[in-house]
Amino acid sequence: MATLLIEHASELVTMEGPARARVGKELAEPAIVEDGAVFVRDGLIEAVGTTADVAGLAEAGTVRIDASGLTVAPGFVDAHTHPVFAGWRAAEYELRVMGATYEEIAAAGGGIRNSVRRTRAASDAELAAVALHNASVFLAHGTTTIEAKSGYGLSVADELRLLGAIRRIATDTPLEVSPTLLGAHEVPDEYRDRPDAYVDLVVEEMIPRVAREGLAEGCDVFCESHVFSIEQSRRVLEAAKAYGLVPRFHADQLTRGGGAELAAEVGAASADHLEQLDDAGVDAIVRGGVTAVLLPGSVYHLGLSRYAPARKLIDAGAKVVLATDFNPGSSPVPSMQMVLSLACTQMRMRPCEAFAAATINAAYALGRGDRVGSIEKGKQADIVAFDAPDHRNVPYVFGVNHAVLVVKRGAIVADRRGPG
Ligand code: NIG
Ligand code: FE
Repeated sequence: MATLLIEHASELVTMEGPARARVGKELAEPAIVEDGAVFVRDGLIEAVGTTADVAGLAEAGTVRIDASGLTVAPGFVDAHTHPVFAGWRAAEYELRVMGATYEEIAAAGGGIRNSVRRTRAASDAELAAVALHNASVFLAHGTTTIEAKSGYGLSVADELRLLGAIRRIATDTPLEVSPTLLGAHEVPDEYRDRPDAYVDLVVEEMIPRVAREGLAEGCDVFCESHVFSIEQSRRVLEAAKAYGLVPRFHADQLTRGGGAELAAEVGAASADHLEQLDDAGVDAIVRGGVTAVLLPGSVYHLGLSRYAPARKLIDAGAKVVLATDFNPGSSPVPSMQMVLSLACTQMRMRPCEAFAAATINAAYALGRGDRVGSIEKGKQADIVAFDAPDHRNVPYVFGVNHAVLVVKRGAIVADRRGPG
């Protein structure tokens, strides 16, 4: 039986607590153990506590990790990513730096449609290679579970190919994946003059097929003034529910379009972005029990200044999650550490709150709170050690990868610890 002991962590951030998402003041209760230790058997956490309490469980053959000087925390759960696409969009980045807006580039045929053209032209093997490469980058930065959206295919066959590449992450790498169909990411070129016909395709063909073949857990739609309207989004999300896919969607990102209210109305598991949220929207999110997935990487990368109202959401009792929104257009950041830094500096979340939003709350948002997101007895041993003496150093010292050891289901999947 494989056993692993991580001991002498300067801080062991357990996130121990109630069996549900943290809200309000609970977000600032990370349950840190100093000189902490975790004992793992066969991929599951068997004991958590101080080194003095736990180290005695080590057996002959136990792999011992000395985490002196390191902060040890649950592996990040990144609840919003777009990890499969062909090619970056550096030229668009430069245009935006020079003053073009994301919407202008999209209207001119760039943006998501640019990625769709290139993704459709890529082979299955090329798409799988991108997926597997991005999975290794996530793992190296301490992310052990992701939600992964399709959305750069925009035809039944191409969305299935993207979900196939996403499945390869789960089968070929240690990264755990919750796949989401994002067939309604944009209106593809061939449907520009008849967007409702494209929504028909998503609702009548894509969703039933994906549900029937068990290719996704969730279904998303980009609800935005230049993409899908509230009415079109409602159709997609209602169809998703009817087919047993968990509804979650891009809401109130660039314009305040009533996405928060729609999320509450359809009982969406999450509403993501929410940069334009006002007080009525905060209220709708809280009353609807909708998880607010905040994506500050996209605000930063688009050169905007209006971040989602994290403090208002927390104070109102919302379930708040942080995620990367990793994608080639609006948020090319795979690192949850960078997202924590943005959340603290730009959205005034405390480091401990940011950790809770990026681990246990994200785990509940993906329906995995009973298995991942905290370091507690009986849970999966998804653990990351940061070269940081204090958890606050992770967001505070930014632009570097602090993750030096990453463990998924008890196995070491990344190790860059220095000598001694
Ligand atoms: O989350 N909002 C829609 N999708 C992405 C952007 C994708 C892209 O530009 O390729 C987002 O911001
Ligand atoms: Fe997104």
